[in-house]
Amino acid sequence: MIHSYDVVIVGAGGAGLRAAVEIPKEYSCAVISKVFPPRSHTGTAQGGVCAALSNMEEDSWENHVFDTVKGSDYLGDQDSIEVMCKDAIRAIIELEHMGMPFSRNEEGKIAQRYFGGHTKPADQNDPYGKRIPVKRSCYSADRTGHVMLHTLFENTIKNQVTFFSEYFVTDLLMENGVCKGVVAFDIANLEVHIFKAKAVMFATGGYGRVFRITSNAHVGTGDGMALVYNAGLPLEDMEFFQFHPTGLWKLGILVSEAARGEGGILKNKDGERFMARYAPTVMDLAPRDMVSRSIINEIREGRGIRGSDGTDYVLLDVSHLGKEVIDEKLPEITGFARTYLGVEPTKEPIPIQPTAHYAMGGIPTNVNCEVLLNEKGDIVKGLYAAGECACVSVHGANRLGTNSLLDLVVFGRRGGKAISEYLKTAKFLEVDESAAKKTNEFISWLFSSNGNEKISDIRTELQNAMMENCGVFRTEEGLKKMIDKLEELKKRYRNISLQDKSKVFNTELVEAIELENLLKNAEATVYGAYQRQESRGAHSREDFPKRDDNSWMKHTFAFQKFESSPELKYKPVVVTKYQPMERKY
Ligand code: FUM
Repeated sequence: MIHSYDVVIVGAGGAGLRAAVEIPKEYSCAVISKVFPPRSHTGTAQGGVCAALSNMEEDSWENHVFDTVKGSDYLGDQDSIEVMCKDAIRAIIELEHMGMPFSRNEEGKIAQRYFGGHTKPADQNDPYGKRIPVKRSCYSADRTGHVMLHTLFENTIKNQVTFFSEYFVTDLLMENGVCKGVVAFDIANLEVHIFKAKAVMFATGGYGRVFRITSNAHVGTGDGMALVYNAGLPLEDMEFFQFHPTGLWKLGILVSEAARGEGGILKNKDGERFMARYAPTVMDLAPRDMVSRSIINEIREGRGIRGSDGTDYVLLDVSHLGKEVIDEKLPEITGFARTYLGVEPTKEPIPIQPTAHYAMGGIPTNVNCEVLLNEKGDIVKGLYAAGECACVSVHGANRLGTNSLLDLVVFGRRGGKAISEYLKTAKFLEVDESAAKKTNEFISWLFSSNGNEKISDIRTELQNAMMENCGVFRTEEGLKKMIDKLEELKKRYRNISLQDKSKVFNTELVEAIELENLLKNAEATVYGAYQRQESRGAHSREDFPKRDDNSWMKHTFAFQKFESSPELKYKPVVVTKYQPMERKY
């Protein structure tokens, strides 16, 4: 079956829906999503979305830019960061006008709270000297992503967007470097559908499911990134994967940084507030890469707590905040602690450990969300990306908390605007039924393949090995092991078989495709990490513990080479105002 839409958006999280809201009604717009839109991973974002509104105290978008550049460990492109931070204030007011129910301060304005790495100068005359935390994150209790997603979904319905929910995109259709559509199948019955489009946007989220302990929903398998990589296009900076310091112990479920923003404290087994040693000025509100490393360090040096299953954790204490504050501002995460760990956060601390949370890297784009063809900055006509699957790059080597929801709405809107402009002159390219061939053949192969490998075994081994060798700390030896493991798993993947041969909601078949996508994303991540011989942001090489600005102020572009290792090329970081400095908090 062939459908025709002016624009097809793949992914119904914050970025995809915000883009869809922007497409004028005279153009037909379809959103294809693996899940029903309000189940997208944006809905799990908790603590806030930041903008220098100055609702609680004086702040400025320039402060926000500086923090984001410094937080990125100077790998973020400063021109893109400026676009995002400047537009943040407008973007939040717009969400308010769309109906997003923000929490309020005493004056009835949007309430704002502290978050890691968001600061302002302690002394206005010394803007880059000592900095102190500033309340910049706008929130809805600890359900900010949830209410944002629902608000945007309601607005897309108002905008008469057509949804194809529970459709899985398997192929990107290109002709002479121009995008002309996608191929997907309906998960309900495996029927293959061809979507002819003048413009396609990927807003398909991250790939946190490549790690065993992750805050990512099951959908986070990096499908859009893998499709782009398969099409011969590059993936940028994949070696930078953020571990959020506070995942619920053993499960990885996010325990929002808002807990620390509201005054929660990290403690080791001796009850010591250990962040005072690692980040004396901002302590528990240091950026995530630093806090995650500090937690692992505490555990390595014997100050963690050993659980009955042999794994270690540290403690997040919010009990001193009192029941009223906890119930009003942190209801969701304290509920998780009660439900999943049987801990009562009003009385006792919550066991936590770092959890794989966010891909700083992804599909390279410019600030208008146009996908880059190469490290020179040439673009692919008709193809756009936004949100976690994209790399603009505003997060560089380490994202600040609450900059992700901001990224979705700022760049979702910019992408929608850029597409609307492109549609004024764009034409449909020829697409016929043969476009479905590759997908049909792959599905047939999955049904007929009768090897002795199980999808779940390969996935578990991948997730364990990534945790071990490509997590918070990395070494050449570990990364080499990971490369070997990956090559082994890729070979074993050719020998899988499905236990479920049905055509109705065959989730095993979906998982088989997702596993292939995870393997692709892991490849770009691990090879990039192996090559980058420095420590910067979330990429912490124990064998190269220092940041090396002489050799590595550059973005990695990984190109898939199928039967051999990916080819890595590099693009210089855009530095406008802020020369790299030592990163101290
Ligand atoms: O901690 C959190 O609430 C997560 C926010 C984010 O990743 O931006």
